[in-house]
Amino acid sequence: MKKFPQAFLWGAATSAHQVEGQNIYNDWWQAEQGHLLKEASDSACKHYELYAEDFTIAQQLNHNCHRFSIEWSRIEPQEGNFQPLEIEHYRKIIADLKSKGMEPVVTLHHFTNPIWFSQKGGWTKFKLQRYFLRFVERMVSELADQVKFWITINEPLVYSSHSYLLGAWPPKECSLFKTAKVTLNLAKAHIKAYRIIHKIYRQKALAKPMVSIAANLQAFEICQPTLKNKLAAYLRDRLYNFYFIEALLRKKTLDYIGVNYYGRNLADVRSWGIRHLLLDTCQDNHHPLRKNSLGWDIYPQGLYKLLIFIKKYNLPVLITENGICTQEDALRWDYIREHLEELYRAIGQGVKVIGYIYWSLIDNFEWDKGFVPRFGLVHVDYQNYKRTIKSSAMKLAEIFKSNGI
Ligand code: GAL
Repeated sequence: MKKFPQAFLWGAATSAHQVEGQNIYNDWWQAEQGHLLKEASDSACKHYELYAEDFTIAQQLNHNCHRFSIEWSRIEPQEGNFQPLEIEHYRKIIADLKSKGMEPVVTLHHFTNPIWFSQKGGWTKFKLQRYFLRFVERMVSELADQVKFWITINEPLVYSSHSYLLGAWPPKECSLFKTAKVTLNLAKAHIKAYRIIHKIYRQKALAKPMVSIAANLQAFEICQPTLKNKLAAYLRDRLYNFYFIEALLRKKTLDYIGVNYYGRNLADVRSWGIRHLLLDTCQDNHHPLRKNSLGWDIYPQGLYKLLIFIKKYNLPVLITENGICTQEDALRWDYIREHLEELYRAIGQGVKVIGYIYWSLIDNFEWDKGFVPRFGLVHVDYQNYKRTIKSSAMKLAEIFKSNGI
């Protein structure tokens, strides 16, 4: 058996808006009500009510950690109006996880914003990040004694590009300038949030926390070896994968690297121009690979390559998301097993991986794609909210139990 390091974290992730349901005070909800998206999140998975049941399932599946996000718009539905009962809700979530033997990994921003914050201009306005920092300060002060692992911002570049470049997510804008501005503001917000979190732990004389972002890393490969494609892959690798992380490293504001990894991006650039260089991908299925149900290329060796690249940062690495949406559970199992093989290979090469968190614990609301993609280890019936454990989840539970493959 190939054994993983001792005290390895094994678990699955969710995010508030994708599972809780009725997040009526955030900008996604608002856009959904305005019919700007394919489907509305509505009651999602009713995880807000059913979290204890979901965590019991995770416990039965031998998970020893769980990643979730705190919904800012529940805590502060109107500017400055903090909700003690909602804070209490997340405290209960953490207590429940701990009583079931799971280490909480807590995300503070996972794509959604309170409506009042986005109405003021959201992340495009540097001045407004003080609101996010106030929320961070409040939540971390409340929960510091119960939480070691924090993720300030989930996939900052996915957020800025989907919301401000591709026009796919609220507020559905297509501006390179705003994308750059938002990205920069998110980086600055992380740096300040990092310092605030550490200050709180020092003041409370608690052991140092582990603070990071969850960075979406993609394996950028080229279709034909043309100059355009090579330049595109290089630029994407620098801009999407490493620019943000390296800016935070320079400020010494990462205690570990949180990696979200899904697969390959095959550059095939049709003409010169920044948008083409940044966005064009092969549409002709050259170099075919197996795909998930959204058509994303499955490419386990990409995870290995990226981990070997980030080894030089000399920080612990936590896989904060890795997963597949598919109706074929056998393919899910192949996906997981093959990625764990690559993870093991990277650990053998000296990459300090401390855990693996699958996306997602339960099927959920997949943003602009709605409820059709099914990423969960656990099936959710959206008619009656019944949970059914998938066979891949049972197999993964064996790996979690034996700490090896
Ligand atoms: C990530 C995101 C998750 C989830 C997943 C699957 O980018 O953090 O919220 O949607 O992708 O697409």
